[in-house]
Amino acid sequence: MPNKPVSPAERKKLEQAAAKVMKHAHAPYSNFHVGAAILLASGKIFSGCNVENASYSMTNCAERTAIFSAVAALGPKIEIRAVAVTNDQGAPCSPCGACRQVIYEFGPDATIFFQGASGPKQAHITELLPEGFRLQ
Ligand code: THU
Repeated sequence: MPNKPVSPAERKKLEQAAAKVMKHAHAPYSNFHVGAAILLASGKIFSGCNVENASYSMTNCAERTAIFSAVAALGPKIEIRAVAVTNDQGAPCSPCGACRQVIYEFGPDATIFFQGASGPKQAHITELLPEGFRLQ
């Protein structure tokens, strides 16, 4: 079932949650602090920050931290309606390829709010990840 459009109030709340959790980022290597928040079909919001590691590839992005927190709290039957991503440098920052695939797993109809090259932007997950992978 298609998700209902995200209202301006819902978007604002989601962006505020992302900005708040960004302060918890562990990013001593890149010094790029990221916060993400997800809005579920139930109306619940979960948030997460990036967590880096001295072994760089172990880094977890903010988006995946938020999604994995929601699954850990509620189980896998969640539907992501929207994702908001913020960073502390006002830099363009859309979800990375790995996060796009993880968003798609739980939100094939999700809207993503992020900083684009020329300002705030929103995109459907399938615009960011055409032909996303699913096992049916
Ligand atoms: N990062 C995120 O958390 N989300 C994004 O959408 C882009 C990148 C993090 C990963 C790493 O800790 C830092 O930003 C620099 O790549």
